[in-house]
Amino acid sequence: MTELSENAALAAQETGVTVEVEVPAGLPPLPADRALLWRAFEHLLANGIKYNKPGGRLRVCAAQEAGRFVFTFADEGIGISPQDRPNIFTRFFRSAAVRDSIPGSGLGLSLVKAVVERHDGTVGVESEPGRGATFLVELPEARPR
Ligand SMILES: Nc1ncnc2c1ncn2[C@@H]1O[C@H](COP(=O)(O)OP(=O)(O)OP(=O)(O)O)[C@@H](O)[C@H]1O
Ligand SMILES: [Mg+2]
Repeated sequence: MTELSENAALAAQETGVTVEVEVPAGLPPLPADRALLWRAFEHLLANGIKYNKPGGRLRVCAAQEAGRFVFTFADEGIGISPQDRPNIFTRFFRSAAVRDSIPGSGLGLSLVKAVVERHDGTVGVESEPGRGATFLVELPEARPR
């Protein structure tokens, strides 16, 4: 997560989006394939910057509670309509709102979902269209494999 914040600072400089990373001290190590999970977080970070508004904020938080790790990526960007929400984790899906204006291949979130599920976790999204989106990743503390 420290690495994540360093990366975030760099990305933020380039885009004018402010990235805030909040990770409590003394978080126990995550039983995960670090490289894979790292790629998933990178995608959420990239989306939170790419679909943000100019000068917007992206807040990344990590926490540990009730036997699981919870990560949130909350942006202040264009948000996701209720119709699109069930589709965004599907490979190659891109919302009509971004298809012609913001580049992308529609693969990032399908990778995020695959990686999270491989770790027996869940990923979901909440969004108020026009005001931002919050992605929530939950991973079990102990991995049964
Ligand atoms: N933070 C976000 N705010 C608003 N819309 C989002 C956000 N993240 C994803 N989306 C929507 O979900 C779609 C799928 O996202 P996904 O990350 O899979 O693909 P992408 O960003 O279009 O391309 P890439 O493969 O480069 O990540 C996006 O095209 C966009 O419409
Ligand atoms: Mg993406």
